[in-house]
Amino acid sequence: MSHILVTGGAGFIGSNFVHHVLDNTVHHVTVLDKLTYAANTASLEGLPASRFTLVQGDIADADLVDDLVAGHDAVVHYAAESHNDNSLDDPRPFLESNVIGTYTLLEAARRHGTRFHHISTDEVYGDLALDDPNRFTESTAYNPSSPYSSTKAASDLLVRAWVRSFGVDATISNCSNNYGPYQHVEKFIPRQITNVLTGVRPKLYGAGANVRDWIHADDHSSAVLTILEHGRIGETYLIGADGEMNNREVVEMILGQLGQPTDAYDLVTDRVGHDLRYAIDSTKLRSELSWEPRYTNFAEGLAATIAWYQSNRDWWEPQKDAAEARYAAQGR
Ligand code: NAD
Ligand code: DAU
Repeated sequence: MSHILVTGGAGFIGSNFVHHVLDNTVHHVTVLDKLTYAANTASLEGLPASRFTLVQGDIADADLVDDLVAGHDAVVHYAAESHNDNSLDDPRPFLESNVIGTYTLLEAARRHGTRFHHISTDEVYGDLALDDPNRFTESTAYNPSSPYSSTKAASDLLVRAWVRSFGVDATISNCSNNYGPYQHVEKFIPRQITNVLTGVRPKLYGAGANVRDWIHADDHSSAVLTILEHGRIGETYLIGADGEMNNREVVEMILGQLGQPTDAYDLVTDRVGHDLRYAIDSTKLRSELSWEPRYTNFAEGLAATIAWYQSNRDWWEPQKDAAEARYAAQGR
């Protein structure tokens, strides 16, 4: 039995991983989370108290991090400022949490010889042309576009350096866009679902032609646990489920599933530096570690996600006004 420290475990994907570990293993989990605007402790309700502890704190707090890492067998590091639009408004918290926070954790893992898995994003690779036959692989060159993705790229490179220079037992995964229940309403899919549920028209950036490679958060969690248990130290694994769709197609599907005319959306000011297309080739993860996604039908996964937002207004309504106020200030 192991004790796993999950940073950012009160956020969307981290909380999904906590449930996945507690449901499928005998491990104990401690969540270290600063509880920023993006966190929601309601996502962690109902977990077994004998195997789960929540600690509120900052991953850049070296003393706290050292104490916690010393008492755990592994760290799975999700904590980050995660939203591109916010990083364009105010990059500093992204540097503090994503770069200094990762550095602080790596130093503790180095001191205590702790297994470390770093969660990252496909955005470190920049973007692809719509007609590019290639997808991102583990050997694609880094080319991040936004303050968010550049800080994630920096954190990946720190992990690689700490493996090579200091022998830290680390792995890295870079995943594509996640969807599913418990995602903050600032993100594309929950924003549009909750817009329709509150009588507001969905908002597409630019012409809505940008492509994202959607994967259900449950599939991301199963892949991370597989890499934590069976991945080769020092290796990077790309996680994706062959889910490429453009934003217009996704909004039309949301509107259709909610019984609205599929053209009842507005085009709004584009995000500056907006990446055009992401696409993941996850052959290495599938062939080396025999991982497969369970959610291969996006329309079904989306319908279940919409049903969750319809039935869980108490979870998202308290965050909706603040998220929309941030967008209004950005003209979106
Ligand atoms: P999220 O914004 O929903 O959650 C982030 C969590 O980290 C929050 O609970 C927040 O309170 C916590 N946090 C932030 N700064 C912290 C700090 N300094 N100390 C402690 N806790 C802190 O994000 P998410 O969408 O769940 O993403 C989680 C991770 O997965 C991030 O590293 C992100 O880069 C990566 N990722 C996300 C996606 C996606 O589609 N959302 C895809 C690939 C990778
Ligand atoms: O690719 C992985 C990344 O996916 C993660 O690393 C990030 O943490 C996560 O936020 C996500 O980044 P994106 O910028 O792709 O996600 P977002 O949900 O902000 O937007 C998805 C797409 O939808 C993008 O092309 C912008 C567009 N969009 C977004 C919003 C909020 C709209 O058209 N309208 C909107 O209202």
